[in-house]
Amino acid sequence: MKVSFKDLGLVNTREMFAKAVKGGYAIPAFNFNNMEQLQAIIQASAETKSPVILQVSKGARNYANQTLLRYMAQGAVEYAKELGWKKPQIVLHLDHGDSYELCKSCVDFGFSSVMIDASSLPYEENVKLTRKVVNYAHKYDVTVEAELGVLAGVEDEVSSAVSHYTKPEEVIDFVKKTKCDSLAISIGTSHGAYKFTPEQCTRDKDGKLVPPPLAFDVLKAIEKKLPGFPIVLHGSSSVPQEYVDMCNQFGGKLPNAIGIPEEQLRKAAKSAVCKINIDSDSRLAMTAAIRKHLAENPGHFDPRQYLKPAREEMKKMYIHKIINVLGSNGKAR
Ligand code: G3H
Ligand code: 13P
Ligand code: ZN
Repeated sequence: MKVSFKDLGLVNTREMFAKAVKGGYAIPAFNFNNMEQLQAIIQASAETKSPVILQVSKGARNYANQTLLRYMAQGAVEYAKELGWKKPQIVLHLDHGDSYELCKSCVDFGFSSVMIDASSLPYEENVKLTRKVVNYAHKYDVTVEAELGVLAGVEDEVSSAVSHYTKPEEVIDFVKKTKCDSLAISIGTSHGAYKFTPEQCTRDKDGKLVPPPLAFDVLKAIEKKLPGFPIVLHGSSSVPQEYVDMCNQFGGKLPNAIGIPEEQLRKAAKSAVCKINIDSDSRLAMTAAIRKHLAENPGHFDPRQYLKPAREEMKKMYIHKIINVLGSNGKAR
């Protein structure tokens, strides 16, 4: 049986992105795999009245079960209202969909937005597959994110050794032919907690690694070709040093973990970039808080005892991103 996202109280990205591009801010796209992440995301969004995109990856579907995640998202809308958010603006989005069948199944299942990531295919095949997904999704008013250019990085379901920046000369043709609603681009971000090797970085006076800047010239050229068109940045965790240090202090081993500096993301959020994807920072916040709690309380074995501070830490991080990096607070009253 088909379910429409509208019946679940969800929204698609169309209006949300148009407002964000105009207003010079970006919508947070946070990945979730479990209840504590979802609670933290919804609490942070409700408190700040920020529109939010809940992202489900193929890995998350395999881990948590698609049916369960869908009902959790539906529950999240009701939970947001309970928290006093009168008109929650919540999108349920498939992250890195890799086939027509997967995207179709999510559309049929109540997702309000899907990503078809055919960026590793040759250009014409990317166009063809994206167009096919758009044709189906638009029948149900579901919005579609596509990708041009390749991000480096290794994740469960997404992997590439090297990045290839998006070619500005391709974007007009791609958007025209595919009719996608937003476009993920490659300008130097990458997935995971190791975005740059130490060799790619310089060091500041204290010996700390300083990553190379994002390719803002490429972003500018794309914006010029597609004025006002919604652009998406994947791989946008900043890998906060405090969480890396906390993990390492309490038994972890995350040498040379490094992300995208927040001032670069702040700059991107003010441009046509209207969706910024963050997953690794949530993983780090959760793991750091759990490691610390268990190290300091070796007798605790009730998961609520260590998941509660983990949830608090994630919520703090999400609120910080919304207010201090993306600027989406107060945009969904
Ligand atoms: O971009 C990938 C996301 O961080 C999801 O990662 O495939 O390990 O769930 P995952
Ligand atoms: P990070 O690994 O930088 O959090 O990126 C997440 C992402 O792009 C999800 O699609
Ligand atoms: Zn991604």
